[in-house]
Amino acid sequence: MRGLQNSVALVTGSTRGIGAEVARRFAHEGASVVVTGRTEEAGHETVASIREDGDEAVFVRADMRDPDDIAALVTATAEEYGGLDVLVNNAGVETNTSADEATMDDWEFVLETDFRAYWLCAKHAVAEMDGGAIVNVSSNHAFLTMPEMFPYNAVKAGINGMTHGMAIDFGPDVRVNTVNPGWVAIERTTENMDEEYREHLESIHPVGRLGTPEDIAGVVAFLASDDAGYVTGAHLTADGGRSVVMQDDTLPSYRKE
Ligand SMILES: NC(=O)c1ccc[n+]([C@@H]2O[C@H](COP(=O)([O-])OP(=O)(O)OC[C@H]3O[C@@H](n4cnc5c(N)ncnc54)[C@H](OP(=O)(O)O)[C@@H]3O)[C@@H](O)[C@H]2O)c1
Repeated sequence: MRGLQNSVALVTGSTRGIGAEVARRFAHEGASVVVTGRTEEAGHETVASIREDGDEAVFVRADMRDPDDIAALVTATAEEYGGLDVLVNNAGVETNTSADEATMDDWEFVLETDFRAYWLCAKHAVAEMDGGAIVNVSSNHAFLTMPEMFPYNAVKAGINGMTHGMAIDFGPDVRVNTVNPGWVAIERTTENMDEEYREHLESIHPVGRLGTPEDIAGVVAFLASDDAGYVTGAHLTADGGRSVVMQDDTLPSYRKE
């Protein structure tokens, strides 16, 4: 993709899951990548797998709930690679709590990680950026949600608004966009899933399958690249078509045997 070769990318929450694949994709596109998260062993494993492919990455430990860690992470990125071109705000957590049962701890856990850190990381990043792009990873929960996804769903809706404000305030030099993934199969989301439920989920997605981290990495890379040079303040849903379904009982089974 145009513009990623020789760029510097910081991908938060890249010790595993979607973020690790985003980091791999940017490195594959020719970027030098900072992998980050709290779990040092997993972070070093992600970096090792990128380097095994002949690409460039380093691990910098940071807890995104800690404002000082966020500032130090951005500084370390700029010092390591001489600047910063792409920030991917991706580190996220959720609690399976309802709006009436969620506690202050649940609220702070989700808002500090998934919301405040996105803003703080972007705020520090733009000070180091001379052009480039920010991609905020939100969710399809920004639009529709399920029981006991609070305050995650509210925060993910807020990220869309955060992107609008940043696109206006950081232009014309830095573009800011959101990707809204749907059901993505990673360790966390599939470890307790039986085969029957997985087949059901596949049958109700118009693409006939669950998403992969690679699916999301491709969308993030596109939004960060010069190929998306006229796109800012936008949100791009990557959910296998699930969000356009009005009523499940009208659907054929999309699952491919
Ligand atoms: N998977 C899906 O179906 C799906 C769908 C829609 C949106 N999303 C979004 O995609 C993003 C990635 O999620 P995922 O599904 O890949 O989840 P995951 O596998 O659980 O990965 C979450 C990442 O966030 C990092 N993280 C969490 N808390 C952190 C903290 N306090 N400080 C630093 N890093 C922290 C984790 O690293 P450490 O634990 O090492 O700190 C890990 O690298 C999230 O924003 C999520 O909301 C996922």
